[in-house]
Amino acid sequence: MVKCEGVKKYFKSRTGTVKALDGVSLEIGKGEIFGLVGESGCGKTTLGKIILGIIKPDSGRVTLETKKIQVVFQDPYNSLDPKMKIFDILAEGLIVHSSWFIVHGSFDIRRKVEEVLDLIKLPKEVLDKYPHQFSGGERQRIAIGRAVLTKPEFIVCDEPVSSLDVTSKEVGHNLPFYKP
Ligand SMILES: Nc1ncnc2c1ncn2[C@@H]1O[C@H](COP(=O)(O)OP(=O)(O)OP(=O)(O)O)[C@@H](O)[C@H]1O
Ligand SMILES: [Mg+2]
Repeated sequence: MVKCEGVKKYFKSRTGTVKALDGVSLEIGKGEIFGLVGESGCGKTTLGKIILGIIKPDSGRVTLETKKIQVVFQDPYNSLDPKMKIFDILAEGLIVHSSWFIVHGSFDIRRKVEEVLDLIKLPKEVLDKYPHQFSGGERQRIAIGRAVLTKPEFIVCDEPVSSLDVTSKEVGHNLPFYKP
């Protein structure tokens, strides 16, 4: 599904060069849950962004077998548009994938969005609210809901449950079993 070969990314700073990634190679198969572990600042987020195509590597190659990819970012305070209601945040992916929208229509979008609320353990009332009305953990669960709704084949999860408490972490554990 995903193949990284010799991926390098150096960042230049005033004090020198940070070798964020220095020749990373890995393969992730279909249906596989791949955990990347390492100390703070070792390059995990950088690799995730390169896989997503958000930043370009200095050298090396990333190949993806699917275009259906999604992401749950590390920081739930920056990953949700503050001007959008939660319903629109969750529904956006379904609407953007217009073929889905044409086939299923707006009624099904409402139903799909409400279904995902069960997974992320939030009540229907949240749909009319804005991101600033939620805690960090609640925002992170909204970001998880948004990521799974479009039925992606690959999700980059950058510490998706680090801002959640122990019971809410269950949301993360249930993710692999969620069938949108
Ligand atoms: N845009 C950037 N400009 C300069 N340096 C950067 C940039 N992005 C990341 N770095 C540096 O690259 C290194 C790797 O950062 P990265 O965010 O990938 O680490 P991480 O493994 O995700 O850490 P954490 O566990 O704290 O999230 C760090 O030293 C960081 O300071
Ligand atoms: Mg990180």
